[in-house]
Amino acid sequence: MMPAPIKVRAMRESKHGVGRREFLAAGGAVVVAGATAARPDALAQSQNSPGVLAAPPIQSVRIGFVGVGLQGSSHVNNLLKIDGCRIVAVCDVRPERTDWATRAIVGAGHPPPTAYTRGPRDFERLAETEDLDLIYTATPWEWHVPVMLAAMRNGKHAATEVPAAMTIDDCWALVEASEKFRKHAVMMENCNYDRMEMMVFNMARQGLFGELLHAEGGYLHDLRAIKFEDHNEGLWRRAWSQKVDGNLYPTHGLGPLANCLDINRGDRFEYLVSMSGPSRGLQDWAREHFPVDTPQRRETYVLGDVNTSLIKTERGRTIMVQHCTNLPRPYSRIHMLQGTKGLFQGYPNRVYIEGRGKVDEWVAGDDAVKEFEHPLWKEMGERSAGAGHGGMDFLEDYRLIASLRGGEPTDMNVYDAAALSAVVELSAQSTARRSRPVDVPDFTRGRWRTTPPLGIVHA
Ligand SMILES: NC(=O)c1ccc[n+]([C@@H]2O[C@H](COP(=O)([O-])OP(=O)(O)OC[C@H]3O[C@@H](n4cnc5c(N)ncnc54)[C@H](O)[C@@H]3O)[C@@H](O)[C@H]2O)c1
Repeated sequence: MMPAPIKVRAMRESKHGVGRREFLAAGGAVVVAGATAARPDALAQSQNSPGVLAAPPIQSVRIGFVGVGLQGSSHVNNLLKIDGCRIVAVCDVRPERTDWATRAIVGAGHPPPTAYTRGPRDFERLAETEDLDLIYTATPWEWHVPVMLAAMRNGKHAATEVPAAMTIDDCWALVEASEKFRKHAVMMENCNYDRMEMMVFNMARQGLFGELLHAEGGYLHDLRAIKFEDHNEGLWRRAWSQKVDGNLYPTHGLGPLANCLDINRGDRFEYLVSMSGPSRGLQDWAREHFPVDTPQRRETYVLGDVNTSLIKTERGRTIMVQHCTNLPRPYSRIHMLQGTKGLFQGYPNRVYIEGRGKVDEWVAGDDAVKEFEHPLWKEMGERSAGAGHGGMDFLEDYRLIASLRGGEPTDMNVYDAAALSAVVELSAQSTARRSRPVDVPDFTRGRWRTTPPLGIVHA
């Protein structure tokens, strides 16, 4: 059983102009007035909102893990190797997965966790019953927000796989709950911690690219076989291609770029335009792999195989973000960041900085990393070797636990979760209306102006 399916609501058209730019001071915070900027209930709450949350330090982080599938089991394995945390409860609709987690946890020398396997809402019983500091979820997309809200309502921090939310309303729900209950709601964007992404962030912080003007990212990954599997993601991911035409998975490409561009910390996504091309890949795959009378052959898909969005930031910078998961192609997140002095271009990784190296010639990323490796990778690269997705998953889990133990703001906060995830519905809205601009809500309610930029984090 799933929660109510996504409703991509009637698009609210862009309302640029004087009204939208009128800023109201409220309780010391600056909040944006305008149809799409902030909901009235949210405005009222902003007077008490904590800005960037730093919760009291937790000596040993007690974790409840919900959704121990492919990605969840990778996080469980990581957490078992990180000091200062314990997985004390696990939940999955498939008991064989909580059995797997129990074996892994006991095998690592910890007491067996309590298992919650009584159906798709049993995470609520977990959240209500267990004495926990953090509930971490790697469930299918439609369950992220229900799990996180149950966590925060019951006094626990929440962390989720990506995207955090699939609708604007759900993005607001996370922001409001995080502020109301003063709990972290972290979207675990592992690509923020990949080696090249961290190197580029380090280079951007050193000013090597000059003033940053433009970025491009995306998620270009042939998922056709995975979407049609009869287990794991095949059970839920393809269904989204039947109901939403937009960018279903914007955060891998956008997350690292947003950090470089100080999104929510000096700049913010202001508005977006999006368009999709035809939908062919899944139809072709079904035709080629399933007999004529199978249910897969009767499915219809609305997701354009290539969706392209352009985001304009408040400070005038531009970001292109793409989604392409239904066509044959090698993997890419594009990963391009350009400034007045040079640029980085991923896939393959290369750098060009004016005045360094030969004119008009790229320097290979592998050479650049010798000079510009991010300190976290210098400190933790060896330890993360062998962990999921080239080690970046271990680094993100490590940093989450370190922030909670230290009582520090998490590297990624609820405003990042909301702004990055909002692209799902906003891209669908714009695509549905001939690419008209749609405003990106200011989930920080003006605090993006005063929140300090993300620094260079360490182990
Ligand atoms: N960051 C990354 O690189 C990355 C990679 C893969 C997946 N993901 C994300 O991880 C999440 C899970 O993806 P996956 O590949 O592990 O999928 P999966 O299908 O393998 O795992 C999902 C798990 O959740 C369980 N589940 C489903 N509904 C549940 C509910 N209501 N309560 C408890 N458990 C429930 C399923 O039984 C399954 O074990 C998704 O959000 C996906 O986008 C991220």
